[in-house]
Amino acid sequence: MAEDLHVSSGGKAERYRVLLPQVRSLLAGETDRVANLANVAAALKTTFGFFWVGFYRVQGDELVLGPFQGPVACTRIARGRGVCGTAWQEDRTLVVPDVDAFPGHIACSSLSRSEIVVPLHDREGRVWGVLDIDSDRPAAFDETDAAWLEELCMLLKD
Ligand code: SME
Repeated sequence: MAEDLHVSSGGKAERYRVLLPQVRSLLAGETDRVANLANVAAALKTTFGFFWVGFYRVQGDELVLGPFQGPVACTRIARGRGVCGTAWQEDRTLVVPDVDAFPGHIACSSLSRSEIVVPLHDREGRVWGVLDIDSDRPAAFDETDAAWLEELCMLLKD
């Protein structure tokens, strides 16, 4: 697929509904993980204009920065640290309406106000990375984002 991404002018759920099949065809036929993560980060940024959207990959006992869109970010996060490290350790999606109220939040940017982190699983169910999205608005993410982003992350099974 080489055409431009079509972005719905509708609400959040409608945008995800239009985005998902396009992500599916973006990934179809390409096996390189970095290429696919890069395109998914760009598609999410183009659709929603998120402040920061990207991936961290598990390497040993750390998460290491992967493809992303947005300002420069911290490169390594220990398991159990910050929102990303906690989502990995607890193997669950974390919606954080106020990052300043999250114990141990790692502030890559002082402009970040709220955040969602979704674990990525391999075919054995192990976490191999996380999708991390930050907003410069408080409480930008809710159950709608969690449900759609979990579905999107299923497309990134390794
Ligand atoms: N805020 C994250 C760190 C990553 S940056 O936001 C890109 C955290 O606490 O896990």
